[in-house]
Amino acid sequence: MSNPAAIIDVGTGYTKMGLSTNTSPQYIIPTMLGERDKTLTSSSITKKQGLDELDFLIGDEAFENQKAYPPTRFMDHAIVADWDKMEKFYEQCYYRYLRINPEEHPVILTEPPLNTPENREYLAEVMFETFNVPGMYIAVQAVLAMCSTWISKSQTNKTLTGTVIDSGDGVTHIIPVSDGSVIPSAIKHIPIAGGDLTKFILDNLRERGEQIPQDEMLTIARTIKEQNCYVTSDIVKEYNLYDQKPDEFFKTFEGINRVTKKPFSVGVGYERFLAPEVFFNPNILSADYTVPVPMLVDQAIQQSPIDCRRPLYGNICLSGGSTMFKHFDKRMQKEIQKLVNERLDSAEKRTGAKPTPIDVKVIGTKYQRFAVFFGGSMIASSETFPTLCKTKAQYDEYGPAICRTSATFSSLV
Ligand SMILES: Nc1ncnc2c1ncn2[C@@H]1O[C@H](COP(=O)(O)OP(=O)(O)OP(=O)(O)O)[C@@H](O)[C@H]1O
Ligand SMILES: [Mg+2]
Repeated sequence: MSNPAAIIDVGTGYTKMGLSTNTSPQYIIPTMLGERDKTLTSSSITKKQGLDELDFLIGDEAFENQKAYPPTRFMDHAIVADWDKMEKFYEQCYYRYLRINPEEHPVILTEPPLNTPENREYLAEVMFETFNVPGMYIAVQAVLAMCSTWISKSQTNKTLTGTVIDSGDGVTHIIPVSDGSVIPSAIKHIPIAGGDLTKFILDNLRERGEQIPQDEMLTIARTIKEQNCYVTSDIVKEYNLYDQKPDEFFKTFEGINRVTKKPFSVGVGYERFLAPEVFFNPNILSADYTVPVPMLVDQAIQQSPIDCRRPLYGNICLSGGSTMFKHFDKRMQKEIQKLVNERLDSAEKRTGAKPTPIDVKVIGTKYQRFAVFFGGSMIASSETFPTLCKTKAQYDEYGPAICRTSATFSSLV
């Protein structure tokens, strides 16, 4: 197993993959698989040879050809829902993107918190039997993300105790981790993440009557979000700033219509700060979810064992594309600290004794967007990696059950 490991991190929105010798993924593709619409005439060759089954696309190609290849769902809230399709997806990841022989590279796969042991067994079956990989390690996304913060200057100790805020495209998770193990009963999630912010921006642009090319609406809204949005500390102040200095704060997005090849421009306004505000005031977007993310973080930590609460507040790690907004970290830290201080103050009033202050620290890194991948590449290059991997020989001897549990790598600390 001397070849570098392949890392494949399948998220609800995007799949990040590459070899462990890289610090960021070589390919980021939409987690999407489209199968040829059978009601449309398939090409005579595929029909004749009975190759319809093989007529599918993944990633950007699937995204761009949705009419002829309607997307099929194989992931549901980050958990695999259709294993046949998942297998097809992995096959293309290996042969079309990574272009490596799976038999020659161990593989690191990632799982969301609360993945089932059965799912881990299926994954082992697919990897060892279909792809014949020499070794496999299934890592918990949150734990890899925490590991990735070890490179941060503000990270004073290499610890695997902390709280991960992972906000991607489909869901925002808050995951307390103690010594490399997730504390399952304390996990919180809110089904609001990047995809919802993109739709929110699109709705705002449409309401204002901005002219956006029909075919590319979501892509344009997503690009506007990624390039222009930021977190503010005070919405009212920000509204005033926009009204006082419109030239400085209102932006214009320029693009070329893919179909007509004509240039177009879209005005970008208050949504620059209103979209990420959803994390702090979710009721802007949904009447069903009203608890702000900082409060969910506080609740998750309060539901964790008392002896690890202090380190859980002191090491809050950011992971995923939707934590990338400018000042997201500062505002998160400020609001969680406020909640903690309020609790300490009321304890002081009740008991009369002054409690020891609790320091809240939110840590991001330059690899935050791909924290899970980066954590994977760190693990793969560590000396303990071979001991974490389940090998093909073990699989042949004991069967898929060897993958029901996954070793943590606390031994690295
Ligand atoms: N610089 C950025 N600023 C804000 N959002 C960003 C930025 N870069 C990427 N995103 C958003 O991050 C999201 C993708 O993040 P990520 O790849 O972590 O999600 P995922 O792993 O596919 O989803 P999930 O974790 O929900 O399963 C998209 O909504 C994308 O628009
Ligand atoms: Mg993710």
